[in-house]
Parts: sequence; structure tokens; C-alpha cells
Amino acid sequence: MSSTSIRTIPTVDPPLAEALAALLVDVVAQGASVGFLNPLAPADARAYWTDVPKPGVTLLVAEQDGRLVGTAQLHAAQQPNARHRAEVCKLMVHPAAQRRGIARALMDELEKAARAAKRTLLVLDTRSGDVSSDLYRSMGYVEVGRIPRYALSSSGQLDSTVFFYKELG
Ligand SMILES: CC(C)(COP(=O)(O)OP(=O)(O)OC[C@H]1O[C@@H](n2cnc3c(N)ncnc32)[C@H](O)[C@@H]1OP(=O)(O)O)[C@@H](O)C(=O)NCCC(=O)NCCS
Repeated sequence: MSSTSIRTIPTVDPPLAEALAALLVDVVAQGASVGFLNPLAPADARAYWTDVPKPGVTLLVAEQDGRLVGTAQLHAAQQPNARHRAEVCKLMVHPAAQRRGIARALMDELEKAARAAKRTLLVLDTRSGDVSSDLYRSMGYVEVGRIPRYALSSSGQLDSTVFFYKELG
């Protein structure tokens, strides 16, 4: 099995925007609920990624044999009363690379980045019933509740979302 390398990305140059866009388009086509609807135009996906890097955002990419296979983000809360908090966002692994532990490795690195930045309370949400909930529970994230009809799916129905938190020790 190829080894996975994970790195932090300070800026998204055009080749990386292309690779991230292809990943996002394929993940959305697989049915993922990550903020976009299928079919996602590659140009829209590229525009999204180009805008991601900004102060307070940690963008990670996972690569195998030099190919992008996954990504995740940590968004540090900017409010003066929330400098201990951050949100985990846009965790995704390419359909051809799933179930090899890449998401877990990305989450481990995000937690390291959060600790280094003294962000000790992590929050996230994910569509109810998705396999991502199993990953988050297995890593110690605590479910706080669900909001029904939270986000539209590509098939046209409104899906509920489950919210989690984790306090880093
Ligand atoms: C959720 C997602 C990121 C998991 O990526 P992955 O690299 O395949 O996950 P891992 O191999 O690290 O698996 C971690 C755990 O997730 C759970 N899991 C992942 N895929 C699963 C599947 N198909 N069926 C059941 N459990 C699954 C398991 O608990 C697994 O642990 P295990 O292998 O010890 O059983 C990936 O399926 C994905 O990109 N989905 C679409 C985007 C998405 O929904 N992202 C979450 C947004 S909040």
C-alpha cells in the first residue's frame, strides 16, 4: 500500500486548485454533502479552492505517490470570546482512495494543528447517517444533536445534520 503524506497548504496555486477541484467534483458526484450540489462545474470548484486560504484557516492535503487523495480544513473562530475554538470543515477523500485510513490521518493532523494553535474545542457537523459520523465518534467526538431538513442533497431532498464537539486534552 502507498504511504500517505499530509502537508499544510499556505496558498492554492493553479495546479493545486485544479487537483482540489477534481477531488471535490468527484466527491460531490459520489453523493457527498459538502456544501455543493451535483453536477459541480470544475470552474466553480476551482474558484472555491482558490479562496480557501485566509488567516485562521488551516488547509491540509493528503497525497499518495504525489497524487492528491484527500483534504480537510480547520477554521479558527475569530470572535474575541472564542479564541479557544475551531471548526473542522470539508473533510473529504477521493472515492478511489477511501477506507485506507486517510480521513483518520487527516483528522489526526488537524487535531495536532489545533493543539499547536491552542484551539482546544473543536466543533463540526455532518449529514445524519453518513459514514463520517462513525469516524468522528471513534475519535472521541461527542454528538450534541440533530437539525432536521438542514441541507439540500443533490437528489433534491432536505437532509438532517448532526453536530459534534471534542475537547482536546
Ligand atoms: C467520510 C470520508 C472522509 C472517510 O474517508 P476515508 O479515508 O474512507 O476514512 P478512513 O478510511 O480513515 O476510515 C475512518 C473510519 O470512518 C468510518 N468509515 C469510513 N468509510 C466507511 C464506510 N464506507 N463504511 C463504514 N464506515 C466507514 C469507519 O469508522 C472507519 O474506521 P475503520 O476503518 O477503523 O472501520 C469519506 O468517505 C468521504 O470523503 N466522504 C465524502 C465526504 C464527506 O462526507 N465528508 C465528511 C463531511 S463532514
